[in-house]
Amino acid sequence: MGTKSALAAPSLLAADFGNLAAALKSIEEAGADWIHVDVMDGHFAPNLSFGPKTVKDLRPLTKLVMDCHLMVENPMDFVKSFADAGADYFTFHVEAVYHSNRMIRLIKDAGMKAGVCVVPGTPVSFLEELLGELDLVLVLLVNPGFGGQKMITSSLEKLVRLKALREERGYRYLLSVDGGVTTENAALAREKGADVIVAGSAFFDAADKAEAVRRFKG
Ligand code: DX5
Ligand code: ZN
Repeated sequence: MGTKSALAAPSLLAADFGNLAAALKSIEEAGADWIHVDVMDGHFAPNLSFGPKTVKDLRPLTKLVMDCHLMVENPMDFVKSFADAGADYFTFHVEAVYHSNRMIRLIKDAGMKAGVCVVPGTPVSFLEELLGELDLVLVLLVNPGFGGQKMITSSLEKLVRLKALREERGYRYLLSVDGGVTTENAALAREKGADVIVAGSAFFDAADKAEAVRRFKG
């Protein structure tokens, strides 16, 4: 039996920051499903990227889901501004907060779907008490900060465990992967359980973006 198809979420991190409206258009024209917005603060991740105003300005240009990935030290400080900007998903790093359960409640109370993300060094067991509350779990397959890195394929095993836990306990979170995903390894990520495929450089460097999206989705 073939693996279930996935949603494609190109990451704006790899787009031309000088023309994000065109980047958005190329994502839509290629048939992708979500826009992945990688937010970095130069502390949790050693890079700077977008803020809530980026989402606010892009929001009226597309109906696609705005999937915001906050690689920041104090994600609690940004819940309201991203909700007001029109973010659909707010995904924070469990490594960056003391009180993840409270964060999830705050995100949902602000009207967004709640996701958590783990870096390669964080085990799935660290998420166990949160899984019943989540809309999304994002498994980062590279060390956060930069696009174009090589996937740490051993991290894909986290999907297998998270998928089993979801089935065992009747949870409903989506499983997403991010970092080093290409048209070549996307099928492996789907086989391991990915429901959403985030890709930055593999999308924006593709000569045929529609074909790349087809390969991400399966
Ligand atoms: C973490 C970022 C990147 C980005 C994807 O650094 O989250 O993983 O989304 O970058 P690519 O797809 O170019 O590896
Ligand atoms: Zn991301």
